[in-house]
Amino acid sequence: MPGQCSSDPIRMTDHISRESNPAHASQLRCINCGVVFEKAAQNFRCASCGDLLEMVYPRWNATRPDAAALKALWRERRTSGLPVDESGVWRFRELLPSFDDWQEIITLREGNAPLYEMPGCARIAGLRQLYAKHQGMNPTGSFKDTGMTVAASVARREGFRWVACASTGNTSASMAAYAARGGMRSLVLIPEGKVSWGKLSQALDYGAVTCQLKTDFDGCMRVLNEVVQRMPVYLLNSVNPYRLEGQKTAAIELMEQFDWQPPDYIIVPGGNLGNSSALGKALLEMKELGFISSLPKISIIQAAGANPLVRTMRENAGKKLISVQAETAASAIRIGSPASWKKAVAVLQATGGTVEQVSEIEIALAKAEIGADGIGCEPASAVTLAGLKKLVKQGFAKAGDSVVLILTGNLLKDPEFTLKFHRGDLFAGTEREKEADILKPQQRAPILLDASVDAVIRTLKEADDRLET
Ligand code: F0G
Repeated sequence: MPGQCSSDPIRMTDHISRESNPAHASQLRCINCGVVFEKAAQNFRCASCGDLLEMVYPRWNATRPDAAALKALWRERRTSGLPVDESGVWRFRELLPSFDDWQEIITLREGNAPLYEMPGCARIAGLRQLYAKHQGMNPTGSFKDTGMTVAASVARREGFRWVACASTGNTSASMAAYAARGGMRSLVLIPEGKVSWGKLSQALDYGAVTCQLKTDFDGCMRVLNEVVQRMPVYLLNSVNPYRLEGQKTAAIELMEQFDWQPPDYIIVPGGNLGNSSALGKALLEMKELGFISSLPKISIIQAAGANPLVRTMRENAGKKLISVQAETAASAIRIGSPASWKKAVAVLQATGGTVEQVSEIEIALAKAEIGADGIGCEPASAVTLAGLKKLVKQGFAKAGDSVVLILTGNLLKDPEFTLKFHRGDLFAGTEREKEADILKPQQRAPILLDASVDAVIRTLKEADDRLET
């Protein structure tokens, strides 16, 4: 296959320890057996035991990063016009895998995601202070861009012509964009009929070869794992540890936005569990290196219909994954067998966070509540607020705590969900129809009128009266 520029398609690892030359070293280490690799196999699994790999930095032992100096440097870079500094990921490059030539990176100036106060949602949740870090404000509209800039850059550096992912939509949109920017081709496997149109149309426009498979996300992942073993394509799912290194920067940027005084809680949606793992890794590294003095508790929220981590934590304290047949309208997190579950369990345990699950109605309501604060997000992101409400009720989070919701995707990713919600169609004809009455106060269906000034003014007055009462 003329798919690869360099000679060796299967990059099996040599068990090399680069401790002897740590100055430039980042290494991949198995999370289970601890074997260290210089380069990963095509499927990013440990060649000894098959578990996931994580990135470690022996160079930090040789030259420990100076937290105070780096905080100042990172701030200073904000005024630079260099692409590598404008990127809200590469601005923090001292804590990432390094490149000999920074012009080699593929960047869309990702990261730089705003932190918003959420006064309406705070009141609803029963908190004095609530923030949302909106990763949906990234170039392709989701948090995936922060990881993709790193992993796609590595793919190109390694000479791959093809990159590939299985996706519920956002990864594929992001991968397709970065591949196009980097002059690579992209192969997308998505579950047929379960990816929102916004995301699907992005992958098409950015030129991906998009295959809709007659299976779910977990089935797409299984197929892709075989494909990457047999063809020279570079796997860009979050089992790729370079992705998670990039995604770490959301947590670094968040700490900077809090002037390095960490909030008490960070609430993250859980799907394949790469993001919670990445954010946790960043916090642990920052604590270890002296950037922060306390650890926010990372809590992970899943849809009740796609709750493998919740079940795994509740039924066996995180020892063995309980896979489920996933079903939720929050299609981004419709995942029953998450790859990074062990990493997520470790993050929950290290930070003292918890897990919670939320119903479809709770997700829909929370999404509208976030929207009513003028922010908006896609359904999967709204599990954070829905879960937080439960954590406050349970007394896990207290009124005076500072809490950050990680909003992972933009409202515009899934307009169909939003329209159905406001038209009252989301649960029509389902067993939840009656229960969905509680959503009515949030619904704002468009009003069809004659093109008449009087009709518009009447509508305006009626709405004003309603808001007065
Ligand atoms: N929120 C959104 C908007 C997502 O797209 C995803 C995952 C998640 C949350 C969950 O993050 O998998 O790291 O736990 N989307 C992947 C995709 C699976 O293919 O786009 P996770």
